[in-house]
Amino acid sequence: MEASTKKTRKTIIKGRSFPQIAYRKTGKGPVLVLLHGFPENGDLWNKVEPELSEKFTLIIPDLPGSGDSVLAEAQTSMDELAGAVKEILDTEGVKKLVLAGHSMGGYTALAFAEKYPGILKGLSMVHSLATADNEEKKENRRKAISVIQKGGRETFIKQMIPGLFSADFKNNQADELKRQVDTGLKLPAGSIVAFYNAMINRPDRSGILTTAKYPVQWIIGKEDTIASPEVVLKQSTLSGVNFVSVYEDCAHMSMIEQPELLIQDLGRFVQYCFDKQD
Ligand code: MLT
Repeated sequence: MEASTKKTRKTIIKGRSFPQIAYRKTGKGPVLVLLHGFPENGDLWNKVEPELSEKFTLIIPDLPGSGDSVLAEAQTSMDELAGAVKEILDTEGVKKLVLAGHSMGGYTALAFAEKYPGILKGLSMVHSLATADNEEKKENRRKAISVIQKGGRETFIKQMIPGLFSADFKNNQADELKRQVDTGLKLPAGSIVAFYNAMINRPDRSGILTTAKYPVQWIIGKEDTIASPEVVLKQSTLSGVNFVSVYEDCAHMSMIEQPELLIQDLGRFVQYCFDKQD
């Protein structure tokens, strides 16, 4: 089945664990899969998609619970979300890919890397972390879940989205900020709770990096308070081959705050991964 969007058409498949998984496929060349974070959907990548699709085949899912993809019940896990990504790849006959994940998409990408390391040519962690939540973070998420379950979804989204962006962006890009809030407001309360619980329950996956046979990329925003430079830089030395970029005037959302830099760095990384001999 196919559903149209303003951009490329979405393909919709039925998953083993999810009633509906939607994704877009565009471009030509080696495969780059782009996983969005929370509380976004595949449209997160709209600003980088046109240029990257000139060199790569992009597969851009809506992770189940977001966009046009649907959760079977009000709970999920990073492993289940990674399973949905694999089902898309199986449908498309993809045997080799670079997987890029933004924040929660990076947690999903690591779950994927744990299960299917053999098909990965590279892993790009875009404002993301390999470690689990600490106790303070888990407690904050539990409080947010309680607020949302009492009907506070809208207030929660309106408060959290500005915190993802740099001071400069917030001061100068009010329209774009509003667009992001509007996107976040589309996420149903059930999905927010499911994603928060999935993030609370995700394990520390930094061990995967120490044995990774593929290059790993780290995109870091200097003003990011979720995947902060201090924490991510430590993780960025765990793998054998690491590409590290730290962006000025950028917090958690380089694909919106600094899209040109991300296009350049992600493009170079993906090219390297496919050019190098295994
Ligand atoms: C995201 O951008 O996906 C979230 O901020 C991740 C998180 O809350 O850990």
